[in-house]
Amino acid sequence: MIARRIHPLRLAILGSGKGSNARALIEASQKSSLCYEPALIISDIEDAGILKLAEEFQIPARFFKPGPFKTKFSEEREQQLVALLRELKIDFLALAGFMRVIKEPLLAAFPERIVNIHPSLLPRFPGLAAWRQAVEAKASESGCTVHLVDHGIDTGHILGQTRVPVFNTDTAENLHARIQEAEHELYPRMVDAFAKTLLQKNEIPKDKEI
Ligand code: GRF
Repeated sequence: MIARRIHPLRLAILGSGKGSNARALIEASQKSSLCYEPALIISDIEDAGILKLAEEFQIPARFFKPGPFKTKFSEEREQQLVALLRELKIDFLALAGFMRVIKEPLLAAFPERIVNIHPSLLPRFPGLAAWRQAVEAKASESGCTVHLVDHGIDTGHILGQTRVPVFNTDTAENLHARIQEAEHELYPRMVDAFAKTLLQKNEIPKDKEI
C-alpha cells in the first residue's frame, strides 16, 4: 500500500489572555511535523498578549469584537466568526484561555471540533480560577484537562489529563504556574492526537492530500 502524505489540519486558536498555551501549540508545530498547523489566532480582547504572539510568529490574527455581552459573543457576532473561519478554511479550533462561553452557531459549525484546556482535573473544579479552587479546597493534587467543548461549562468529553501535586505551602499563583508547565506539554500532544483522529475519521478530505 502506498502511504499518502497529507497536509496538516488548519487550526484556529481562540484566546483572551497572555497566550502561553497558544505559544506551546505554535512552538510544538514548528519543531516537528504534526497533524495540525496554527493558521489563525482570534481574540476578543484588543490588546491581548496572544495577538502579539501572532505577530511574533507571523500567524494571521484578528481582534474579534464580541458585541454587548460579557461572557459570550452575541449570536450575530458568533455567526460572523463562523463565516470568517469557513472563509479561512479552518478545520478545527483550540481554546487557549478564551474567556467566553461558546454557543450554538460555533458548536453547530464545528461539531466535536473544538477543544479546550482547563487548569484542573475535571470534573473537579470547573469554572473560573480552578487553581484557586484547588488551594481553597486543600486538594492534595490537581492538574490539567484537555476536553471537547460542548454546551456546558468544562463538561465535554475528556481527551487527556496530567496530574500535578498540590503542596500545603502552595499559593494559588504558584500552583497555577506548576499547572501551566504541565499544560504546555499536554496541550500540543493532545491537539496533535486529536487532529490525527479527525484525519483518520474523515479518511482524509481530498484537499488535504498532497
Ligand atoms: C490556562 O491556565 C488555561 O488552562 C485556562 O486559562 C489559562 C490561559 O493561560 N483555560 P494562557 O493565556 O494560555 O497563558
